[in-house]
Formats: sequence, C-alpha cells, structure tokens
Amino acid sequence: MNSTNNQKVMTLDEFTIQELRNFPGATGQLSGLLRDIGLAAKRVNVEVNKAGIADILGEAGKTNVQGESVKKLDEFANDQFINSLRHSIYCCGVASEENEEFIPFTDEHSMNSKYVVLIDPLDGSGNIDVNVSIGTIFSVYRRLTPNGSPCDLNDFLQSGTQQIAAGYIIYGSSTMLVYATRRSVQGFTLDPSIGEFCLSHANLQIPDDSDIFSVNVGYYHLYEEKVRKVIDHFMAKNEQEKIYRHRFVGCMVAEIHRTLIQGGVFFYPAFGKYKNGRLRLCYECNPMSFLVEKAGGMALMDGGTRLLDVKPEQLHQRIPVFLGSKRLMEQLQTILS
Ligand code: AHG
Ligand code: MN
Ligand code: MN
Repeated sequence: MNSTNNQKVMTLDEFTIQELRNFPGATGQLSGLLRDIGLAAKRVNVEVNKAGIADILGEAGKTNVQGESVKKLDEFANDQFINSLRHSIYCCGVASEENEEFIPFTDEHSMNSKYVVLIDPLDGSGNIDVNVSIGTIFSVYRRLTPNGSPCDLNDFLQSGTQQIAAGYIIYGSSTMLVYATRRSVQGFTLDPSIGEFCLSHANLQIPDDSDIFSVNVGYYHLYEEKVRKVIDHFMAKNEQEKIYRHRFVGCMVAEIHRTLIQGGVFFYPAFGKYKNGRLRLCYECNPMSFLVEKAGGMALMDGGTRLLDVKPEQLHQRIPVFLGSKRLMEQLQTILS
C-alpha cells in the first residue's frame, strides 16, 4: 500500500465523510466519534511500539529517564481513549474495563451528544511482555436518556442488538482499525508514513467455512461435556478425517481478526472458577459478536442463545462465547444443543 502516491487509497476520515454523502440524513456524529477513536488509537499505537524498550526508558510503576512516572500500558490506553472521548463533542459517557463505574461527561457539548461508548482499552495485555499482538475493543450505543441530561447506567446496559457500531484496533505486525456499522464491516491499516488509517479491507465478510478452531485447550478437562465434544469434533482421529488447524493467541482481538480474514471459530466457554466464562459481555463479547454477525458469521452464548440478545445486568458481567464462520458454527451449535 502506498498512500502517498496512490490517490485512490482512502483514509478513515475521507471514508467516513464519503459515507455521510451517501446518507444525506446522517448528522456526522458517528463519523466524528470514529475519528476520535482513531486518534486515540494512534496515540496508543506509538506507546505500544515503545513497549519493547521499557527496560531502557523505565518500567511501568517506576520512573523513567526523564524523571516521569511510567504508567502501565493498559492504564495509558484507558486514559487516551477516555480523554479523547471526553474532549469529543460526540460522546456523553464511557464505560471501561479499567473503571468500576461508567464515567458521564457533563459539559454542555458532551451532554448534548447522543452516543455512549464502552471499551476494553487494552485486550490481551498478557502478550505485551512477549511482543505478541494486543488490541482495543469498542462499542457504541445511542443513549436512552434524553439529550441534554447526564447519561445513566441503563444507557450502557442495552442488549448487543442495539449497537450502532462496534470495532477493534489490533496492534500487530501492522496496526489496523476494523469497525462495523449496521451496514458493513470495514478495515483500515495504519500507514505509518502519513500517520493515517487507510482503507485496506473494504466490506469484510467472514469465509463461510474454514479449517481453524481456537480455544484454550489447556482447560479441556475442566470444560463441561458438550464443550469437550465440540473440541473432539475438531480433533481428527485419523488422516481420512478433515484436519483442522488449532490456533490460540491469548488475545480475543487477534483471534477475531484472524477469524474475520481466514474464517474459523473462536470460543471461550465457562469452566470452574469462570462459571460464566472469562470474557466480558458489554465491552468484549457484544462488540465482537456484532462485528462477526455483520460480516456474515454467527455468535452464540450456548447451543440455543444468540449472544447479542442477552440483556446485560451489570457493566462487568462475564459470558461464555462461541463465534465465527457460519458452517462451523452450525456444527458447533448442533453439538452444544
Ligand atoms: P484482557 O487483557 O483485557 O484482560 O483480556 C484477555 C482475555 C482475552 O483477550 C483472551 O482471549 C483471554 O483473556 C485469554 O485467557 P486465558 O489465558 O484464560 O485463555
Ligand atoms: Mn480483554
Ligand atoms: Mn483489557
């Protein structure tokens, strides 16, 4: 991709503005919000890229060579996204994995905006020390409370079907921002030479079939029988059977990104101490399920329940999740139900 020479490459800003022209009724608030999220992502990306020289610059929790205190990367990412949304005129409040309570923005502009945002500012943070992909997940809802008033908890506890947009940023071998609206899923790659996200994966669709399955098999004996049967289904008993490839990065963003591009299923079931699964409904599973469905895939919480239909009761509640390519999900659903 050479965006400096190729006029046809569209930046995120250009793309969202073009989208506005196609929909004359649109107010531009969602486009503005996505650009603000993109800006915070670029700031986080710079810091993520420096993570490897933490020992030289100073480790998190200590003081760096300039005498400044160094924040943990997830705190840094949280601050960047919250500050960007706070200064945005398109968001009236945010809920984050890193904050117990949601944060209402009560300045005049923010209170008059119609969207709330939920975020996992840094997903897969266990991967930082080993230089493996990490990400950010976001979800956008239209507020239920009237414009001009502070937002409240109910604005954040809507079922996933109500999402207006959802997406993620993956800080990987390149950095990408992928988001879904009700219409489509679009992927943008950060071109470091111009510091812009450029449209690289237009109208993403998950392959209907694939040979990849992704789950932490280390917990195999702790999963319930149905889940073990799903794993058994993907493990060839002889070379005449279909051979699946098993992948597990330990970062939901990376698993979903791979699934969007190459197809497959990713699941994080309930077991033992995680009796409701480990992943969070509001800012991990709902946004990813929305993306996957918009790209033509399926997302469930068990054999019979569409994940997006679940009405959240708490901001930080957990949920078992199974999502991915349609054909594989249908097989998985048959075994689970
Ligand atoms: P986070 O870094 O936001 O806490 O999320 C990490 C999550 C998720 O992305 C990943 O799929 C899962 O933790 C891995 O958990 P296990 O190590 O238990 O498999
Ligand atoms: Mn996470
Ligand atoms: Mn996190």
